Amino acid sequence: MRTVRLTVVLSTMENLVKTYSDGMTEEDDKAFNRQWDVVPPKNVYDVRNDETSDIVLTPDAIAADVVRHFRPTGRMLDPCRGSGAFWNHMPGAEWCEAREGRDFFAWYEKVDWIVSNPPYSIFAEWMEHSLKIADNIVYLIPLAKVFSAEKRIRDIYAVGGIVETRLYGAGTALGFPFGWPCGAVHIRVGYKGPMEWSFYIPNV
Ligand SMILES: C[S@@+](CC[C@H](N)C(=O)[O-])C[C@H]1O[C@@H](n2cnc3c(N)ncnc32)[C@H](O)[C@@H]1O
Repeated sequence: MRTVRLTVVLSTMENLVKTYSDGMTEEDDKAFNRQWDVVPPKNVYDVRNDETSDIVLTPDAIAADVVRHFRPTGRMLDPCRGSGAFWNHMPGAEWCEAREGRDFFAWYEKVDWIVSNPPYSIFAEWMEHSLKIADNIVYLIPLAKVFSAEKRIRDIYAVGGIVETRLYGAGTALGFPFGWPCGAVHIRVGYKGPMEWSFYIPNV
């Protein structure tokens, strides 16, 4: 009886340790990413049967708020403009979009600001590339994509820091097909200060 109970306790503890150990395992991360591998587009592209699509289009009001709030200036780039949610609000900005034959990974020119909602399933490589070419990066993203992996946080702080995270709310509230909390994370190369929070819908 005692042995059975002890086994149950030990296995529960093992599961807890697995769940709460330092962020996601590689397998967890893959499963997490797969959530977005088939996302029906809301407009513009007809890629419903494209299993490799990684398209979650940002509502105009949210993209407008991101640009208004973070005020990008100088040379700007939307690295994956989709149907232009962010790009439309950044006059003169450069752009990439894989579906229009402009691969972000082929872009090496320096820019002052990158602003967008990036493809989630390749976010780790995407962030590494972004940090090489931009002084300021603002990505609207499920926050877990940034904060659930120790390596991602350390990679950011190896070159700079997070100036601010602006919380927009659950993905479903933004019309996204998932409920994880989404925010715009502003990373600046060379930044050493604290991270501020702001709220699209004020905390009352
Ligand atoms: C999450 S969607 C966001 C689209 C748009 N930024 C928005 O917020 O509405 C990600 C976009 O990244 C594009 N994409 C994926 N890989 C890319 C790459 N290597 N270079 C450029 N764009 C890419 C996809 O085609 C898709 O339009």
